[in-house]
Amino acid sequence: MSDLETLSRDLLERIHAAVDLTSLEAERVAALGKQGAITGLLKTLGRMTAEERQVEGPRIHGLRERVAEAITARKAALEAAELERKLATETLDMTLPVATGPQGTVHPVSQVMDELAEIFADLGFSVATGPEIEDDWHNFTALNIPETHPARAMHDTFYFGETDGERRRMLLRTHTSPVQIRTMMRQKPPIYIIVPGRTYRSDSDATHTPMFHQVEGLVIDRGIHMGHLKWTLETFLKAYFERDDIVLRLRPSYFPFTEPSAEVDVGYSVVKGRRVLGGSDAWMELLGSGMVHPKVIANCGLDPDEWQGFAFGCGIDRLAMLKYGMDDLRAFFDGDVRWLKHYGFSALDVPTLSGGVGA
Ligand code: DAH
Repeated sequence: MSDLETLSRDLLERIHAAVDLTSLEAERVAALGKQGAITGLLKTLGRMTAEERQVEGPRIHGLRERVAEAITARKAALEAAELERKLATETLDMTLPVATGPQGTVHPVSQVMDELAEIFADLGFSVATGPEIEDDWHNFTALNIPETHPARAMHDTFYFGETDGERRRMLLRTHTSPVQIRTMMRQKPPIYIIVPGRTYRSDSDATHTPMFHQVEGLVIDRGIHMGHLKWTLETFLKAYFERDDIVLRLRPSYFPFTEPSAEVDVGYSVVKGRRVLGGSDAWMELLGSGMVHPKVIANCGLDPDEWQGFAFGCGIDRLAMLKYGMDDLRAFFDGDVRWLKHYGFSALDVPTLSGGVGA
């Protein structure tokens, strides 16, 4: 065996035996590096005669090529083995739960709804609900707002294309008042309910959003008069704003479903540029109310000579803004976590009359 063949076998064996990339690199330097065995052989070509070079040249170059190929192949094999090892040992368990604290808060509207339920429960009222997709009979007609009544146009109603089985036009309820009708038709008096819920009108600016929240109040019993209405509203607002100096002013007004009707203003004063409820320096409009119209009671199959009642309707978003100091209604519905972190409530802030409904 010639020296070249011995060298070739020796180099290829060692390349093949290299256990990692570092030892393979050492073999490459030993063979092909500046001082390497093959580099040394290539240098001898210059000193050979032309005939010798013709014989030795191809052999030495052939050896260099085989060794270079062997190194490349070994390198690929070692890298593949390394990747396999990593894949087998380094695991990432995507099913592990991420341990973070609770991120959300209770929205001020939900909080105020809970406060209302708590306050009115203490006065003997229960919470009633009704559908947000209504028909025009419950939303308007039964509430003494017939087809041609101008109050219909005032409501900027979202209508659906379809009608229900009785060919009543479907719409998104424009107020919570249709739940008065549904409750009177379903339940025998005496009735003492509040109805918090979502309502819809085609309207949008800093104080109006297409979806907003109202709370309706309804009492149907014997011998009910406006004194009961005023006392109930006063008791409610004193408890809600947690102030004894809340003063109400009832102004004559008009709603088709009440007779007489009254708009209720609440007194406030301005302290350091901020409105503070209480007293009677100035007045702001807060809600609509009145004695339930005899026609509405009769529309629900009850005898208005036997049963009377009062009703009121109030914007919940406005109640929340007044109590908790937000000034742009649109932010209520942006779903911005930063706003919720600032204005929202902890899930443990359950309003109670004893612990305070102010949270
Ligand atoms: N439904 C009226 C509205 O959305 C509010 C209202 C006024 C409700 C007087 C009542 C009421 O129950 O008696 O504007």
